[in-house]
Amino acid sequence: MTAPQPDLVCRDLTKTYDAFRAVDHVSFDVPQGSFFSILGPSGCGKTTLLRMIAGFQSPTSGDLLIKGKSMIGVPPNKRPVSMVFQHLALFPTMNIGENVGFGLRQRRVPKAEITSRVGQVLDRVGLPDVSARRVDQLSGGQKQRVAIARCMVLEPDVLLLDEPLGALDLKLREHMKVELKSLQAAFNTTFVYITHDQSEALVMSDNIAVMNNGRFEQIGTPHDVYHAPDTAFVAGFVGDANKFHAKISAVNGSQLTLETPAGEPIKVEAPNPNLSVGQDAVVFLRPEAIALATSDIGDTVNGSRGEVESVLFNGANSTVTVRGGQGDIIKVALPQTGDFGTLRKGDTVFTRWDPKKARCYPAPKG
Ligand SMILES: Nc1ncnc2c1ncn2[C@@H]1O[C@H](COP(=O)(O)OP(=O)(O)O)[C@@H](O)[C@H]1O
Ligand SMILES: [Mg+2]
Repeated sequence: MTAPQPDLVCRDLTKTYDAFRAVDHVSFDVPQGSFFSILGPSGCGKTTLLRMIAGFQSPTSGDLLIKGKSMIGVPPNKRPVSMVFQHLALFPTMNIGENVGFGLRQRRVPKAEITSRVGQVLDRVGLPDVSARRVDQLSGGQKQRVAIARCMVLEPDVLLLDEPLGALDLKLREHMKVELKSLQAAFNTTFVYITHDQSEALVMSDNIAVMNNGRFEQIGTPHDVYHAPDTAFVAGFVGDANKFHAKISAVNGSQLTLETPAGEPIKVEAPNPNLSVGQDAVVFLRPEAIALATSDIGDTVNGSRGEVESVLFNGANSTVTVRGGQGDIIKVALPQTGDFGTLRKGDTVFTRWDPKKARCYPAPKG
């Protein structure tokens, strides 16, 4: 059996502005009906990439196919895609129904059909009675849904979303993540979603591409990019991590021993180390990978003694920072059970972590 054709395929897609490569040989496939996110810091090339898919910008080189057809040279209005912009771009002088029906009017769809399709799509986004309202009479979350309805009424094969939650406050953003994901599932339409917010990407996506300086560093499931980052950039950008510099002092198969400025050598088990003795490395260790104890656990791998530097209470996401003997600081997640709730600055604690839980990469040059 052959896999079904992906809805969207990019092959070596590149965009240069003079000598500057904003998008640099990016290749990926997005299967039909899936939620694909492109996650990266501001300026890494996300919008440029999305605008090439939409047809607002043409690639310098590479190819781009939707449902198997190359889109090179096809104007935006002839592509089976629709785009939700960063600031939604609803028309303030039109009511909601007119906003949603805008694209259908441009396509000269008969009036009665427009009314019925607008009604249906507003039903599907959970806003059955807002057609006659003005844009400024809706809440932030409702406007979001209208922006999506305005695109979905055109029945695109691929919906492109450029940081659509950026302007919302935190609480609404949390809510909209869940809502966007369920709208995507309900429409069963392919979504390509760009964001600099790792939590949005982790919560909503089937697959995430992590982008840096115009390139994709890794494509994987949220679980993969979080637990098995391919590069130091991905390990540092996705999720929270302690990062320290170390020098490889021994390699035994997948077992690495490293010297750190903090004194005690550490052990890391790296599945595919590609690192040799004497090499400088960076080690990433998640705060939740570190176990905490208030009494001495004896001699143990990657165990050390330290002093609580600060307690950062944040409900289920509470952490402490622990200062080691050499002044080195690590961040440790507190268990969600509320244990260790009585820890105070200056308390002595013992930390340890499993060598398999850390990630190790060659240090970047320079
Ligand atoms: N029209 C343009 N001319 C020159 N440089 C541009 C143009 N558009 C974007 N860039 C540059 O390309 C890089 C990527 O921009 P963009 O795709 O908007 O990033 P992101 O959406 O990830 O923040 C930035 O350094 C930006 O300054
Ligand atoms: Mg952008």
